[in-house]
Formats: sequence, C-alpha cells, structure tokens
Amino acid sequence: MVEHTQRARLDYVNTVFVVGSGKGGVGKSTVSVNLAVALAQRGASVGLLDGDAYGPSIPLMLGVRKRAASQGTGAVLPLAERKEIAPEKKLQPLLRYGVKVMSVGFFIGEEQAVAPMPDVLGLLIRQLLYSVNWGELDYLIIDLPPGTSEPQATLCREVQLDGAVLVTTPQDIARIDTSKALTMFKNGNVPVLGVIQNMDGFMCPHCGERVEIFPQSREARVQLDDLPLLGRIPLDPSAAAYSDKGYPAVVSMPESPVAQALVDAAEQVAASAARLKRVSAADEKEKGDTEEKAQTEDERED
Ligand SMILES: Nc1ncnc2c1ncn2[C@@H]1O[C@H](COP(=O)(O)OP(=O)(O)O)[C@@H](O)[C@H]1O
Ligand SMILES: [Mg+2]
Repeated sequence: MVEHTQRARLDYVNTVFVVGSGKGGVGKSTVSVNLAVALAQRGASVGLLDGDAYGPSIPLMLGVRKRAASQGTGAVLPLAERKEIAPEKKLQPLLRYGVKVMSVGFFIGEEQAVAPMPDVLGLLIRQLLYSVNWGELDYLIIDLPPGTSEPQATLCREVQLDGAVLVTTPQDIARIDTSKALTMFKNGNVPVLGVIQNMDGFMCPHCGERVEIFPQSREARVQLDDLPLLGRIPLDPSAAAYSDKGYPAVVSMPESPVAQALVDAAEQVAASAARLKRVSAADEKEKGDTEEKAQTEDERED
C-alpha cells in the first residue's frame, strides 16, 4: 500500500474532486463543465481546473480564450515549490457562469504540437492548485486527461482528493478502460463517488424520443456496477453544438433532458461527497475517541 501521509490538504476548498475516465471522448469535460455550472447555480462557490494539456477543451466549452487570461506575470510557475504565495502574486482565474476557471492549456501554446512531459504536467496541475487565487471554494473540480498514468499519479500522491467521478459510455471498451481508472483511484486511496454514464441513449432531433444506440454490455460490468450510478446523460446533438460555442447545456437548454440529467447528476455528486465527508469525519472522531480512551486507560494503569 502506498504511503499517503505526504498528501496536502487544500485548506481553501471544502470538497475537491476529480473527473476521470480511462478513455478520451467520453464526455469528461462536458460533464465537468456542466457539473461546475450546475453547482454554482445552486449557490455554491465553485472552481474548475482543466488538467487536460493534450486536448484542453474547457476554455472552448466555456467560451474563454487564452488571450483573455493573459495577465502579464504568472507565466513562470515555480514548479518545484509548494510554499504559500501572496494573494496579489497569484493568478486570477476567469469567471464564467459563476465558476472560477483555470486551464493548463493557458500555459501551453494552443498550436503547440508537443505536449509537456507527463510528469511536468502533474507538477503544473499541482502548482495551479496553489498559485491560482481561487478564494474560498465549496467545490474544486479537476477535469483530468484520459488514461491512468501521469498526471493522475502525481495528483493522487500529492493532493488530498475527496473523491473521483468516473465518466463512461455504455460501450464495452469505454467501460473496460473506466475500470482501469477505478483501480487507479482505489490504489491511490481516492474514494470513487460513482459513475456517470454519458451518451446513454440518443435524443432524436426529429421525433424528440430517446433512442438506445449501443447494445447494453455484459462485460466489465462487475466492478463498475458495484458503484453508484450518479447519472445517465443522453446524447443530444444540439447540446454538442451549443457546447462547442461556449454554452454548456445547463445554461443554453436548461429544460432539455440532457441538461436535467446533468443537474440531477450534480445533485447526486454533491450528496455523495457530503455523505463521504460525514463518514470520514465520524471515522476521525472515533479514532480520536479510541486514542483518548486508550490514553486514559494507560494513565489509570500508571
Ligand atoms: N451528452 C452529450 N450529448 C452530445 N454531445 C456530447 C455529449 N457529451 C459529450 N458530447 C460531445 O462529445 C465530444 C467529446 O466530449 P468531451 O467532453 O470533450 O470528452 P472528453 O473530455 O472525455 O474527451 C464533444 O464535442 C462534446 O460536445
Ligand atoms: Mg476533455
């Protein structure tokens, strides 16, 4: 078992969770963006960190461009340091739909063909947790790149994550890849809150009915199906069209089944994270009580 005593707790945020999957293109960024906006619409203060340097899509999905983020300083990040940074020296996140947004893509040329070394990416993400002026947050959502190596490993090792949300599609291969991500989080002692199944059925633009596209899989269900299903989001072509123009479904088409499913999923995620917090607080208390009791007994024996 890996030793986790070194993991840093981010004291400015109540709940930090990552959105991950083993595979690209399943809708992680779409889910991250809509969860963030839905939570902000419920009155929470929310930060969203796009950690995908290979295809940073969150700036696009929220209609924020790198140029708008340029603030002169800040481009040189002290990657190896973890000390406190004065608030005035911190990077300002962008504010969109009530969500504070930062992207690793802002530090990497948009036309740059070569992505940074994967372990550097882990350090960059970690550093953005400290050098961005997030303020006090109820939730910080980190949208991860696909896969199960870096930067996930660095992040799991160095930061106390409260939970992971896995995104999958109903296709077998996506589920198999997602089960790899599940193993990675389990090995890293990151509690998995559950699975959001995206592109689950198709909203037909002609008849408005929901159509099942993929055969329901029987493989690779075992591990995943033990987890709570936090939401089933249908595929809706107009959601994709809006999303690519910078308007997330929960903002641009709030009455649609896809937006409703995303809002429900946000509620499930919030409830599940809160439950987990209560359990771990109770565990801590019990541990404290037991230690105290043992101490009193020791004293009595003396
Ligand atoms: N439920 C959905 N309905 C319609 N389009 C979707 C849905 N989920 C994702 N998409 C589209 O699929 C593409 C990939 O989604 P994205 O969120 O970028 O995936 P990932 O972050 O996992 O690579 C995007 O063009 C996005 O707009
Ligand atoms: Mg993405």
